[in-house]
This record gives sequence, C-alpha cells and structure tokens, in this order.
Amino acid sequence: MKIDLQGNVCVLGLQWGDEGKGKIVNLMADPDGPAGRFDFVVRYSGGANAGHTVVVGSEKFAMHLVPSGILSPAATAVIANGVVIDPQVLLEEIEGLKYRNVKLEDNLKISNKAHLVFPYHKLQDKLSEQQLGKKSIGTTCRGIGPCYSDKAARTTGIRVGELYQKEHFAEKLRRIIEKKNIIFESLYGEHQPIDFNSVFEQYCEYAERLKPYVCDTTALLHQAISDGKRIMFEGAQGALLDIDHGTYPFVTSSNSGTGGLITGTGLPPSCINNVLGVMKAYSTRVGGGPFPTELNNDIGQYIRDRGNEYGTTTGRPRRTGWIDTVALRYAIEVNGITSIAIMLLDVLTGLDKIKIAVSYKVDGARMDFFPANAYELEGIEVEYEELPGWRDEITEARTQDDLPAEAIQYLRTLQDILERPIKIASVGPERDQTIAIDL
Ligand code: IMP
Repeated sequence: MKIDLQGNVCVLGLQWGDEGKGKIVNLMADPDGPAGRFDFVVRYSGGANAGHTVVVGSEKFAMHLVPSGILSPAATAVIANGVVIDPQVLLEEIEGLKYRNVKLEDNLKISNKAHLVFPYHKLQDKLSEQQLGKKSIGTTCRGIGPCYSDKAARTTGIRVGELYQKEHFAEKLRRIIEKKNIIFESLYGEHQPIDFNSVFEQYCEYAERLKPYVCDTTALLHQAISDGKRIMFEGAQGALLDIDHGTYPFVTSSNSGTGGLITGTGLPPSCINNVLGVMKAYSTRVGGGPFPTELNNDIGQYIRDRGNEYGTTTGRPRRTGWIDTVALRYAIEVNGITSIAIMLLDVLTGLDKIKIAVSYKVDGARMDFFPANAYELEGIEVEYEELPGWRDEITEARTQDDLPAEAIQYLRTLQDILERPIKIASVGPERDQTIAIDL
C-alpha cells in the first residue's frame, strides 16, 4: 500500500480523541510504510491522558506517553517540550518496552523543557472533579489540567531539566508543596498532607533513571531539519479537545491541534508539509460536554459494542454518535488538514441506514458553522443526510474495489462535504486491514 504524503507529516485526530491515530502512526513509522521512511516521531502535547494499545509480538499493552513510533527501530521517538510528563507512568512504559526487547537507548529523547506532573497535580485533578460533581469536566484525573495551570503560573511549574539542579529543585518543590497543602486544606477540607521528603526522593530517583534520554529536543529537531531528516508529528487527543478551539470548557488543557505542534516543539510552521486528519466513521467522546450527534439508543450501543468503545486510559464506556461534518469541517479548517484517514469503517457494517450530520439548526435557522461557545451546542437540532448501509462484513477488504458500493458512496459523500481527499480507510485493528483510497 502506498499513499502520497510528502515531507514532514502531522497525524492529528479530528474529533474528541481516540480516532485511531496510534494505528496510523505505527503503520507510517515503519521504514517500509505507505508514506515512506520517517526518521523521527514526535509527541508535542498532552500527557498520560492519551492512551493507545500497542501490539509487540503477540502481546498487547497500553502506552500513554512514549510515541507510538518507538516500535520502529528506524525512527527516533521524541517527547517534546509541549508534553506534560508523569515520570512514574513514563518509566513504567520504558520498563515495559525494554522487557519486550524494544530498542530504546538511542531511540527515545525527552525534552528538558517539558513540564513534570507531580502527585499533587493528580490529587488536585481528582479533588476538583469530585467537588464539581455533576458539573465536572470528566477528566482522566491524570493531573493534566493542574500541571498545565502551574506551567502557565510559572512559579509553580517544574521542568524536567530542573530535576538536575538538585538544590534549586529541592527549594522550589518544598515551597510549592507547602503552598499546595494550604490550598488543598482550605479548598477541599481534610486530606493527607503531601510529604515533601518522599516526593523529593522519589523524583530524584526518577531523574537518574530518565537521565539517559533527556536532552534539548528543540535543538535536536532543528538539527534534524537541517540534515534533511523526515519527521512525523503524533497528535494526542483531538481537534475538538483543543483548549482554544475545542468545546471549551469540556476540553483538555493543551493545544492538541497544529498550533500546539509549533509551541510544543519549537519548530516553525514551515516545517509542516502535510497534516493527515484521522477520524472515525462515526463519532465518540469520553467525559462530559456537548455532543450534538450522540445516539443514546440501540444504534449507539451497537456502535459501542462493535467498536469496543471503552477508554484505554480510564476504561470508561465512550459516548457514541453519527459522524458530524459541521464539527469536522471546522476542525479541518483550524488545523490545515490536507488529507484524511477514516478509521473503524467496519464498525458500521450491519446498519440499515447511516446518517451524516450536515448542518445544525437553532430556533429554526440553519447554522453551518461550529459555534464558539460549547453551551450553544447543548440541545442543538441536527440536520442529517441519510445513506444506505451495507450488510456484508468488510474486515477482509484489502483494496477499494473490495468495498461494497454503499461504503464507497459513504466515503465519497464525506469527501465531497469535507473537501479533502480521503486517502486511507481502516477496516480492522491489524495493519493489513488498511486500504489506500483514491476516489
Ligand atoms: P484531561 O485531559 O484529563 O484534563 O481531560 C479533559 C477531557 O479530555 C475529558 O473529557 C477527557 O475524557 C478528554 N480526554 C483527554 N485525553 C483524551 C484522550 O486521549 N482521548 C479521549 N478523550 C480524552
């Protein structure tokens, strides 16, 4: 299978995360992959809230921080400065990969400018969500929001590089923990105070174990560009979870879109040659927030069951719904998407009719754009185009010609509405269940 994607490519989710980016990145990171060889695979935003299942040999395990490209010995995996790193999770992944004989020594690089997630971030995430009750965001409780908040606050954020200035690190961490304990006590009442000594010792130990991988990844990537190396950027979460352009406040705390790629790596916009938008053949979302095409019925459950729609990070059942081209067109525009991969097409097999959301309606008036205010989406009326479904399983399809006419009609309709070429369709989790599309 060959697809035409030249230069440096960003692989980005177009919905609310979990679109299947991991499969596409894994496939493309292979030196003999469909888009040619990549020398670097770079994560630029988010943290251990992301999750994808990686298959090594006959074994499956979940990864949250290490880029999926690590499984390709040809590519260097980079965790760039825009990522927030929980060292405990990262080291577990590193150990898991080493145990499975994945080569890491020269192949994994961690930014010294990336911010660190501490136990108090996770605690704060959990306490804040508990306090909000029904009004909660539905976060993954991985400490992502509190860590990015501390990064922006400056005096309470700690970067990976600071771990190696021990006196400075001790003094800063002590001051932060004192402050956090006071805040937690007054905001959330009784709780076990965080103990500076144990956190300090733990993080000094983490620092030693991470040291072989830590470097200035901005300099590394600039050198790579000068040397004519090819880079794939691995987006985390999805365009609609972006802190600025997603369904705020039901979003994550970083810029998951292409804007975050620039700030999250230190590379200029001219370094991005192509942006491959990855979307499911339907929609899902985990956690709270508006979801105009949500299906709280048998069809929604059918999709959840066939798509195994349960979160990799939290195990929560995902909310499911029809594909929403109003939201997708917006995500495509904001992120400069040049082509599309459509995932989990096989999940729709067996449905009599398949619906595509084509516009919204408010008080009877048509609305073709995605509103800036997420609350405007609550209870919005959705207009659909209805297409015939297909009956025969498509998991064995290996070329476009193997797909039923109704599936092709679905892809063509989406391509026309989205005004971007669909280049890949996925019909199952395995690599060979990926089809090059040219409509
Ligand atoms: P946080 O990123 O843990 O703060 O969670 C904020 C929102 O983003 C919640 O609705 C999460 O369910 C959602 N979220 C965060 N990461 C992912 C992901 O990787 N896939 C899907 N949803 C995510």
